[in-house]
Amino acid sequence: MTSTAAQGEARLEDIPGERGLPLIGHTLEVIKDPVAFGKRMREKYGPVYRTHSFFRDSVTLLGPEANEFILMDRGKNFSSEKGWWPYIGKLFPRGLMLLDFEEHKAHRHIMAAAFKTGPMKGYLERLNDEIPPRIKAWGEKGSFEFYPAIKQLSLDMATTVFLGLEPGEESRRVNKALTDMVAASMGIVRAPLPGTKMAKGIAGRRFMNDFLRKLIPERRDSDLNDIFTRLCQAKDDDGNSFTDQEIIDHMIFLWMAAHDTITSSVTTLVYELGRHRDWQQKLRDEIRSLGLNDGRLPYEKMNDLQLTEYAFKEALRLNPPVPAMPRETVREVEFQGHRIPKGTIVGLSTVSSHRDESTWPDPDKFDPMRFSPEGGAKTRHRFAWVPFGGGAHMCLGLHFAYMQAKVIMVHLLPYYEIKVPEGYKTEFQIMPLIKPKDGLPITLEAIV
Ligand code: HEM
Repeated sequence: MTSTAAQGEARLEDIPGERGLPLIGHTLEVIKDPVAFGKRMREKYGPVYRTHSFFRDSVTLLGPEANEFILMDRGKNFSSEKGWWPYIGKLFPRGLMLLDFEEHKAHRHIMAAAFKTGPMKGYLERLNDEIPPRIKAWGEKGSFEFYPAIKQLSLDMATTVFLGLEPGEESRRVNKALTDMVAASMGIVRAPLPGTKMAKGIAGRRFMNDFLRKLIPERRDSDLNDIFTRLCQAKDDDGNSFTDQEIIDHMIFLWMAAHDTITSSVTTLVYELGRHRDWQQKLRDEIRSLGLNDGRLPYEKMNDLQLTEYAFKEALRLNPPVPAMPRETVREVEFQGHRIPKGTIVGLSTVSSHRDESTWPDPDKFDPMRFSPEGGAKTRHRFAWVPFGGGAHMCLGLHFAYMQAKVIMVHLLPYYEIKVPEGYKTEFQIMPLIKPKDGLPITLEAIV
């Protein structure tokens, strides 16, 4: 799919599109409503269009075929590192998503060892230990805002399940460093000027760097069952492992990759279950039918929670935590007759794909049965639903995400009814992060 020399060099201006307002281009429109923006551009220019946002010219490719073209990247045309770098490069350098091609493959093979069945069973035990007391505390409060509560729970998982720390001063300092880093990655000012979020984020990274480095020697030889320890001991089939600095870089990235994604997807699920009490009851019945002795979810029963999985998938469709995925072309590429020059930022839009009514009838409706075989799961294009990406960079933590969401449901739904006022609707901010603008006030009513 490369150009022929006879045609001359590809030019960005030849791709249909516009630059929007002076300087800021379409940035505000994209932040306000990326789905509506995608729709407008598609109607005007077709499924391949040029735009200018976040201070960069870029080309968006819409539709399942486009998603497959970018994500499978059979021609090794797209750099993930160069696409993501302007957003998260300073804070999360050398994270897995910021590596490309052969180097990325070698690192991914090693890291995959930390996500095999054995380690996953260990993480599940930790989740089963850590989550119930936190849900109990929510129940004691009764009425509260769900988004900050689940964000705090995710933060607590970062120190316990991810790092294997006990609660105390150490985990509090780690918590702060991690919070500062995530806040910085969302900040508008990208330079680490004094007093900015970016400066705090970079200080947080420095703290984490030193903190993790000190722990590595003991963790390389420990039988603890957290993700950090597993990463310290991870080896590929040829016995290759990570250096200390690689462990640090990957660990910090992993934590970031997991944190807001799980937070926002579980928020959407709880929101929809609050509004659809029939679905809440279906999931409750499914969980009860497992007959869990001590209330804990065993690894072997994870796949029995099928309706719960459909509901989670539907939440990820409605509000995909990674709304778009950027790449940079490393050579000229051609897609559907459009020649895209080398060095162009190319993006796929998860949000637009997931609300496209030609694939998803009544796209704004919460309907988990879309993911059942009879609901179209088997016949739909396999790149129509891409919350976890696909191809070489497909989310390595997706099973962990399902696991954590299911553990939360197993410890929540049999004991509490999630209630929101009749007819309640919240507005979600989509960029840069999916987040309910009102924090999602809910009531948990104990089931007696
Ligand atoms: C609902 C939760 C999650 C969602 C929606 C999600 C989404 C994604 C997406 C879309 C990508 C690919 C981005 C791209 O190709 O540009 C990705 C990559 C990644 N995710 Fe997740 N993620 C989630 C949870 C997690 C968790 C829990 C972990 C770790 C425990 C994790 C670890 C990773 C890693 C390591 C990568 C990079 C893979 C690579 O570049 O090879 N993610 N995730």
